[in-house]
Amino acid sequence: MTVTLTARGAAMLPLDEILAGDCIEVMNALPEASVDLIFADPPYNLQLKGELHRPDNSRVDAVDDAWDQFDSFKAYDQFTRAWLAAARRLLKPNGAIWVIGSYHNIFRVGATLQDQGFWILNDVVWRKSNPMPNFRGKRLTNAHETMIWASKSEGAKYTFNYEALKELNEGIQMRSDWVLPICSGHERLKDDQGEKAHPTQKPESLLHRVLVGSTNPGDVVLDPFFGTGTTGAVAKMLGRHYIGIEREESYRKVAAKRLGQVRRLDAAALETTLSKRAQPRVAFGQLVERGLLRPGEMLVNPRGMAAKVRVDGSLVSAEHRGSIHQVGAALENAPSCNGWTYWQFKRDGQLIPIDVLRQQIRAEMHD
Ligand SMILES: C[S@@+](CC[C@H](N)C(=O)[O-])C[C@H]1O[C@@H](n2cnc3c(N)ncnc32)[C@H](O)[C@@H]1O
Repeated sequence: MTVTLTARGAAMLPLDEILAGDCIEVMNALPEASVDLIFADPPYNLQLKGELHRPDNSRVDAVDDAWDQFDSFKAYDQFTRAWLAAARRLLKPNGAIWVIGSYHNIFRVGATLQDQGFWILNDVVWRKSNPMPNFRGKRLTNAHETMIWASKSEGAKYTFNYEALKELNEGIQMRSDWVLPICSGHERLKDDQGEKAHPTQKPESLLHRVLVGSTNPGDVVLDPFFGTGTTGAVAKMLGRHYIGIEREESYRKVAAKRLGQVRRLDAAALETTLSKRAQPRVAFGQLVERGLLRPGEMLVNPRGMAAKVRVDGSLVSAEHRGSIHQVGAALENAPSCNGWTYWQFKRDGQLIPIDVLRQQIRAEMHD
């Protein structure tokens, strides 16, 4: 693997490239704290014993490749510790990692993540809507894989596009169980013989959700087990930079061809609903200072009860005084209240939510 060095000897970040070689060596040669997100789909260490057949005696194309073989759990753990340490060094302080795995490896990976100081944010169950049946009928159908999402350390300000994921989920908070089909049909890449190009190609829908939810356009996303380049393909489409690392030349070729065919979406398509926390804070008093609401003006709640705006941006009703949130909560006898969506003001005979004025100020801040 060759990593370009600058005149001062520092390694440059090879953006939008597929790097050849062992991911531990390659990652160790890249500059520290330079990557926003790592998505890793490491070898599962499936430990398959013998061939697997369907009831009609046809052979199941299971993962029995050399890259998935380890002599023992100890060897697998050593490998996991080494690649996770290399990955952690590459992450920016507020960076995060996703690791996908099955029951064969994900618990071992999870323990190592915690041992190394990563902070687990969620485990996501990817429930396969079309899983492969259990042909021998001796165990449950294995219908899911688990993804661990972790920040580099506790307290890191990791990226979470809460609103965008909620939007993807038709306005309902995104949960940690995702029902998505496995990769099949035209999405499944084929080799020159028309066979599956890779045994564990992941669906783009999975990466779409991961990247929309935990990265922003322009971010650098690294995948140390690139395979057919699913992470790179979705990252490129979504206007993120990718760095792929893959040891096998045949997979690198498939990935390079695939990436050449991906087109980046335009800026308008890439814009997502901003997370509330990411939006600039506007104090209610600013509406008064700016003359958008006048001191002495009445606000009305959904039940038609009124409160008067005071010069300092507080409200006073018949029995309560305080912020828009406090007076709203007191009138509702509730522990809390979002005053921005609760109160309305009157203009030309129409009732308008005060949040409209907050949006107006925010829009000016973005200009
Ligand atoms: C589970 S597959 C990833 C599949 C990929 N997510 C996709 O959608 O195509 C793991 C990949 O990691 C590669 N690999 C395994 N060990 C590696 C190592 N030490 N360094 C680099 N690549 C490795 C394998 O060749 C294999 O393609």
